[in-house]
Parts: sequence; structure tokens; C-alpha cells
Amino acid sequence: MSRLRLLIVLAAAPLALATPAAWGQATPPTGPVQQPASTPAPTNPAPGYPAQTPKPGALYRSGPSGRYLLGGTWLFRFDTGDKGVEEGWQRNASTAGWSRVTVPNAWNATDSSAQSFAGGAGFYRKDFKLPTNSKRYAWVVRFESVNYRSKVWLNGRPLGTNRGAYLPFELRLPAGLLRRGLTNRLVIRVDNRRHPTDFPPSNLNAKGQPTGGWWNYGGLLREAYLRRIDRIDFSTVQVQPFLPCTACTATVRFRVTVRNYSDHPQRVRLTTTFGTRRLSLGTAAVGPKRFATFVRSLRVPHPRLWSVDAPNLYNVRLAATAGKQQVARYFLRTGIRSIKLIDGHILLNGKLLNVRGVGYHEDDPKLGFAINNQIRDQQLRWIKDLGATIIRSHYPLAPYTMERADQLGILLWSEIPVYAVRTKYLKQRLVRELAAKELRDNILINGNHPSILVWSIGNELSARPGPVQGYYIQRAVKTAHELDPTRPVGLAVAGYPAAGCQSEYAPLDVIGINDYFGWYPGPNGQIADRTLLPDYLNSVHACYPKKAIFVSEFGAEANRDGPVEEKGTYEFQNDFISYHLNVYNSLPWLNGAIYWAIQEFRVRPDWDGGDPHPNPPIHEKGLISFSGVPKPAYALMQKAYLATQQLKAFRAARK
Ligand code: GCU
Repeated sequence: MSRLRLLIVLAAAPLALATPAAWGQATPPTGPVQQPASTPAPTNPAPGYPAQTPKPGALYRSGPSGRYLLGGTWLFRFDTGDKGVEEGWQRNASTAGWSRVTVPNAWNATDSSAQSFAGGAGFYRKDFKLPTNSKRYAWVVRFESVNYRSKVWLNGRPLGTNRGAYLPFELRLPAGLLRRGLTNRLVIRVDNRRHPTDFPPSNLNAKGQPTGGWWNYGGLLREAYLRRIDRIDFSTVQVQPFLPCTACTATVRFRVTVRNYSDHPQRVRLTTTFGTRRLSLGTAAVGPKRFATFVRSLRVPHPRLWSVDAPNLYNVRLAATAGKQQVARYFLRTGIRSIKLIDGHILLNGKLLNVRGVGYHEDDPKLGFAINNQIRDQQLRWIKDLGATIIRSHYPLAPYTMERADQLGILLWSEIPVYAVRTKYLKQRLVRELAAKELRDNILINGNHPSILVWSIGNELSARPGPVQGYYIQRAVKTAHELDPTRPVGLAVAGYPAAGCQSEYAPLDVIGINDYFGWYPGPNGQIADRTLLPDYLNSVHACYPKKAIFVSEFGAEANRDGPVEEKGTYEFQNDFISYHLNVYNSLPWLNGAIYWAIQEFRVRPDWDGGDPHPNPPIHEKGLISFSGVPKPAYALMQKAYLATQQLKAFRAARK
């Protein structure tokens, strides 16, 4: 296939396939490419690096058959900007200049310098042999999360580009480039220098220092796969439950798009099982390189509902046959539950939400954002033991984390990293298109997780939104509702009394208030006095009586013992938490409150977070230290969360 043809096919794909033509050249890198000065030269040279044959399997369960983990040892080198070097070593088996790394990998996982935060570029290389040399298979490479800009080569020839982390992208490995039976060389260049148009953006504060809500780790932050495709591939699989009432029969709607990877037309038949029920999704003739979408519904009488206290899941298996042969399978687990918004209250299976939860970053002192599933399990254990029933993150979480949330009965506030994007950039069409793509991909890729409660379209865009934010909100909400009519759509905003009521928020179902009353002073000191919090929150409810209001953040830094009046002490943090929780408990209309955050994380080189004695770059509002030690606030919050009725009977609460 010619390169041009490949690009067109990729651009047509409904999944998060990289679209080189549209975005590849959109934003040229700023400044010279440099190896961060503080990063040592490779100390782990790679003298022998035999090609590996990837093993079947994946780090999470849902997904198609034919996945092979491209894990283990890769090679890495910084991009020194040497012209011509790129093509030279791509054809060269030599490992000189490369060091060994384990993927997932953040090259600056332990480098807290300003230069590390500013970013740079590096190359990752994997030499591999195909697991099978049969010509009937097509091959795709899938990267789960690369921060931030990527360019991928196979055997020295460019395949495509992508931008943006936290959502997967895929590129086909063209048959003409693959060496069957021989070593193939996959190279990906990763550039993590942030631009003001990125998600999250690289803004500067008044002192000219970079802002940003979390550390700028560069690299392959989540795992990569090789996917084997026998003619037909599952491109998107949406399984949406509709439940009119808790005792009603549920309708489960399947919307499945497949793609014919072969050069011949295929007669494709799709079948599925939902628990023990079987359903035919139909048959379609699919032309070469074309897509076909199958839509069918299944009625499920007496469903076992998914809820926080009983997270019942159904196994869903799909199979595609081409002619008489089964060519592809897809597995996922989902749940049946209803989420309704009535008079400003979200009802989960008919019960009012009054959830308590925590914010979460996938950070670790040794691995940065390239954490493994053991660390995820530990973090989820802390969250579950705390009595939290909802997690908020600023970006789509790793698939494994979402699967565990499904199993543990923890709701997710799933946000795209459209984080404090400034008006002049949000105004640009390209930026809005990229944001829309993030939202679409998040919904299409992650939408089968019953734990996801709300699609959040961003965080703190502007306390006083104007037409630019209004336009973004309106379009984003419409897109989300069209793709997923089963979930509400929200936005997190900075809680400032001076902001008043905003007509731009009209399309939203959910508003999250980031509440730092009594911690930050806020513009003109308007949130310095915490006793103004109840009136402020009531005024928000009065502005938007039909919308579900959550406290999407509240938190205070703490790194030492000391007087209760002194910011930054454990005593202050405890007192802050008790006060805020008491206020929330007194507001019957509130849908929930989310503490920011469960654990400390790296944020940025000059971070103080409002603490007079900070410990940059660590964000210290966490209930658990970066090294994993709970602060006194953990036990305090655990007691409060466990004592809170987080789901309430509708009638009783309305009396
Ligand atoms: C913000 C933001 C968080 C940040 C927090 C803080 O409003 O959404 O990402 O960490 O405030 O200042 O601690």
C-alpha cells in the first residue's frame, strides 16, 4: 500500500488511529531538541540486543483476540538533533549509543529538574520477529499512552504520527515493509515538550515560570502491543445498557464497527453473547479496506444490576466470521445500571448519589507515570479502604485501572486533559478539533466500563467563560450525548464567588466545583475565608438548580506536624477536611465531594501549592505521601467516608 493510501485509510478509521496527514505538521517543535543536561549519558548500554518474538497476552482483559505484548526490554536514546542520524541507525543493527529500558518507561521518571519538566525528545526501539510468518495476517502496532508527540518507523520507513497521551493510537505495519521470519525494527520518536495548545498546555505564570497540573513525564507511559489481524478487525465496540426502572427489563444496545483489512470483499457475520444470552448482530458484505457497522439490541429481563455495593458484571463475547471461518473475537465485561438526572440529582439505579471520593494521579517516585499494575492495585486498595466510591482523574485512566474500578464498585469521573486551556488557544479550530477527538476517543474506547459515571470535558477553563468556552462546551456536550446517551456530561470549574451564574454552562448536566475555600486566597482574597463556603455553594445550586453539582476538588497541603492555624501542617489539613466535610454533609442537594488527592505526586519544579514550607516538585495535598505513608488525614477521612451514606433512597431524601 502506498503511504498516501495508508494515510487516507487511517484518517477514515473511527478508532484512535493516528492521523498523520491532519496533525503531523500542525505544530512545529519549538526550540532546539536537547537532551536534558541533568540526564546522565546511557549507563545501561545494550551490547547484545537479539530480536524478541512477542508473547500473546495483554495487561488488561477487554479487547480483541490476537494481542501480543511488546513489553520487556526496549532500547532508548535521546534525540541529539543530529541530521541524518535518524535514517542511518534505523537501518543499522548496531546498538551503539542505545541503552536498555523496560517499557512502559518514562525517561525522566526520577529527574525532578526544571529541564526535565520542560521536556525533550528521545527514540525508543524494539527489534522483534513476528509471532507467525503466515501471509494471511495483517499487523498493527498499538501504543496505549505516549507523552506527547510521536513519530513511528518500521524498518527505517515512516508509518505515521500521533499527538496526545492517555488514549491509545494504532498504526498498521504495511505488508510491504514487514520482514517475515527476519528481524523487524520498530522505532518511535517521542517529544514531550509542551505547547500552549497541548492537553495539558504549557502555560507560563506571571513570573514566566511554566505552569501545569502534573509532571511532564516523557516516554511510552503505558504498554505497547502488536496486534495480529486475520482479515477482520473490531474497530469500535459499544455496549450500552438502557434501564427504564430498577425492576424493568433492560435493553442492551450493541453498536459494533468492524474493518476489513484484506484486499478482498468479505461476507462478515457477527455474533455475541451477553452473559448466557446469545444474539446475532447480523451479516454484511464489507469491501476491501472498508468499515461496516452493526447495530442490534438485546432485552435482558431481571438484570443483575451493577452498583457501588454490588458491582455485578456481565461477560460479553463477540465473534466475527468471514465466510465459514471465525476470524476475530472480542471480550469485554460490562454492567447494567441506570444513571438519571432528576432535578439536580443523579440517581444510580434509582438511588440518590451522595458520593465521597478522591482525585488520583498515576504517579510513582521510581517509575513516574509509567507505573505497573501492582502499583495500580496498591493505589486502588488505599482508595477502596478509605471508603471512597468515586475517583476523579484529569485524564483517561489506564484500561487495567478502569477494569478494577468496574470490579470494585468504584465510580469514575472520566475527564479529558483539556486542562486550563487559555481562551486564545481554545479559540483555534485545531485545538477544538483535537479536544473533540479526545472526547470522542475516550467515549468510544472506554465507554463500556460501567464504573464511568460522567464524561468530563475539561478542568478550569476559565472562571468567567465567554463565547469561546461557551462554544466548546456546547459542541462537546452535544458530541458526548450523541455518542453516549446513557451518561451525563460535566466540567470542573474553579470555585470563585465573583464568577456568578454563567449561561455558558447551560448545556452541561454536571458541574464540578474545585473548592479551596480557606486554603488559597483566590483573586482579591475572595476564598480566603472558609466560612463563606456554605453560602457560596448554595449560590451555585441556586444558579443551576437542575444540574448535578459535585465538589470535584478540595484539599490542603500537609508535610509536617505543627499548629492547627499554620498552613502545611497535618493539624491544619485535618481541620480543613473536617470543616469542609461538615459543610458538604449539610447540603442535601450536593451529589458528592472528591478530595484532591489520594496520594502525593510530582507537579512542577516551583510548586508550593499554597504551603509556606513547600517541598517542590511534590504536590502535598495527598492523604498519603509520595513514598506511600498515610498522613493522619487518611484515618480521619476514612472514618468520615465510612460513616457517610453515599447512596440514598430517592423518596426518603426528597421528603
Ligand atoms: C487545581 C487543579 C489541580 C491542582 C489543584 C491544586 O485547581 O485542578 O490539578 O492540583 O488545583 O492547586 O492543588
